[in-house]
Amino acid sequence: MCSDLEPQRPADIRQLDVDKIRADFPILARQVNGKDLVYLDSGNTSQKPRQVIDAMSTFAAEHNANIARAVHQLGTESTEAYEGARSKVAAFINAPSHDEIVFTKNSTEAINLVAYAMLASSLQRGGDPRFALGPGDEVVISEMEHHSNIVPWQLLCERTGATLRWFGLTDSGRLDESHLDELVNERTKIVSFVHMSNILGTINPIARIRARAREVGALVMLDCSQSVPHLPMDITALDVDFVAFTGHKMCGPTGIGVLWGRGELLSAMPPFLGGGSMIGTVTMEKSTFAAPPARFEAGTPPITQAVGLGAAVDYLSALDMRAVQWHEKELASYALPALETVPGLRIIGPRVPVGRGGCISFHLEGIHPHDVGQVLDSEGVAVRVGHHCAKPTCARYGVPATTRASFYIYTTKSEVDALVAALEKTRKVFG
Ligand code: ALA
Repeated sequence: MCSDLEPQRPADIRQLDVDKIRADFPILARQVNGKDLVYLDSGNTSQKPRQVIDAMSTFAAEHNANIARAVHQLGTESTEAYEGARSKVAAFINAPSHDEIVFTKNSTEAINLVAYAMLASSLQRGGDPRFALGPGDEVVISEMEHHSNIVPWQLLCERTGATLRWFGLTDSGRLDESHLDELVNERTKIVSFVHMSNILGTINPIARIRARAREVGALVMLDCSQSVPHLPMDITALDVDFVAFTGHKMCGPTGIGVLWGRGELLSAMPPFLGGGSMIGTVTMEKSTFAAPPARFEAGTPPITQAVGLGAAVDYLSALDMRAVQWHEKELASYALPALETVPGLRIIGPRVPVGRGGCISFHLEGIHPHDVGQVLDSEGVAVRVGHHCAKPTCARYGVPATTRASFYIYTTKSEVDALVAALEKTRKVFG
């Protein structure tokens, strides 16, 4: 599904027409500080094509109404647009059913939804034992997680008395699976880890960890915030239990994310947020809850954003996600050695373009990443600097922060050249 081990692009995967793609993104025509914008911060948020911008503005101008409540024509159109987006997302990731797609605010909320459902199951008598934790139980994550896949599990463990454990990392930026059988054991309730690291770019292999989790009866959750936008995704083949991702990193708007969950598990889970639209019935004494996905979508959902995400999925599908993956693999193959020509530059993460995506973190010896970011910005080059919400990963590699360039469908090799030139200038500025 997402193997990039082949040394060359398979013949049936075409090259992206990057000039044509760039023409769809109005913001890429901008200048910044008198220079052409070189946007290398798509891991943070991607830019939006006109097709997505237009879909949202047409919806707001012509169809806007609340969903699932109004009997009028606009309400019907709006509900169809929202549910249509759900079906598009389901097809994009090859989910068995669109009812397994829960719209959330972002990936963070999707992960919290699962963690809080587990907390509720742990607190309520007779909760489903698969979700209930207590002292002696364990949750396993990794040292390369975004804070959104650390903090919810820390809170869950603190509140239930369970223990948080984690995979360490190798010096080359890979997950250290050498203690897998000891780490994932009969006490493990859930293993939640990142598919593609937002800081290292590493794409984690799933099969061994999933097999071990199945052996001991643990659930498996994947944070796919950085993989769904960049790789072909087949949830059915992935065969895990929960997946979280977000719209704004995949050409969609902010304010919408996705939790995919195995239908049978979602049906067994208690709600996260309570409110309108998620109920079966309500009396003053008690409420019953709707079937998923409505059970997990309390209140008026992000309707316009769902329409935008649906348009983003259409846009990416038309490009062919295999071509997207290969475009970024080729950019990474070009950028990794080019970056290493800059004196004092150390790549934090895999140095080879295999088992990694087009998101590259590095440290320039003797220069703080914030200073690097400022010089790059003065050259029109937008990157992210800081800990990337992955402080434990920075600590593992002995750096307080990194500079990160992250590529997408509109990134060109000449933009990589501009980055390298701006880094050389940074070296000169700081001696
Ligand atoms: N998690 C996003 C990033 O890596 C915000 O930049």
